Amino acid sequence: MSSDVQTRPELDEAGRALLFSEARTANSFASTPVTDEELAQIWDLAKWAPTAANTQPLRIVFARTDEGRARLLPHMSEGNKAKTESAPAVAILAVDTQFHDHIPALLPFRPELRDVFAGDATMRERTGDFNGALQAGYFILAVRSLGLAAGPMAGFDAAGIDAEFFPDGRFRSILVVNIGHPGENPWFDRLPRLDPADTLSWV
Ligand SMILES: Cc1cc2nc3c(=O)[nH]c(=O)nc-3n(C[C@H](O)[C@H](O)[C@H](O)COP(=O)(O)O)c2cc1C
Repeated sequence: MSSDVQTRPELDEAGRALLFSEARTANSFASTPVTDEELAQIWDLAKWAPTAANTQPLRIVFARTDEGRARLLPHMSEGNKAKTESAPAVAILAVDTQFHDHIPALLPFRPELRDVFAGDATMRERTGDFNGALQAGYFILAVRSLGLAAGPMAGFDAAGIDAEFFPDGRFRSILVVNIGHPGENPWFDRLPRLDPADTLSWV
């Protein structure tokens, strides 16, 4: 008897816990450094997760020097400054508003989609924002998969960050993520998650 069913391996409980059930958002970080190799590895994993028409609109700036952090800190909201100051590395996640320019290379069997996006600003912005946010989620999971802790933050002055890091206006910041090993008292109390009764329906 032949079968065309391909079985896939599964993550074990420890892997699932590392990515999901036991993973926490870090609010303070140890001084243990995070290497540029580790940061590059985060993206080497996250880049494989899917986006619509393979558009991949997310762009990342890794700030991991005193100078880089000094440029970022004034734009973080007051409640986020101390966290960002203690993180050995910080990623600024942004959407490339001209992501469609890459379509001929990224979707070679349908290069004309570039021009469809070029002619429809609403579709372009929605696609960029939605898929950039998806990639931001993948990014957080990739951080966790390497045994590092992530601290995502939306509390920042986006216009300030964009003027400082993306002065030509092409990239638009969407999220800042502290990255490192947890420091002292790193976790807030775990907040409840919605019940399946509130989130799931079955048809
Ligand atoms: C998109 C996004 C924005 C967030 N913004 C902030 C922020 O500005 N400041 C902050 O302290 N935490 C921020 N958080 C952290 C969340 O409050 C935290 O991840 C959530 O409560 C779950 O915590 P847990 O992972 O420890 O269970 C943000 C998280 C996400 C995903």
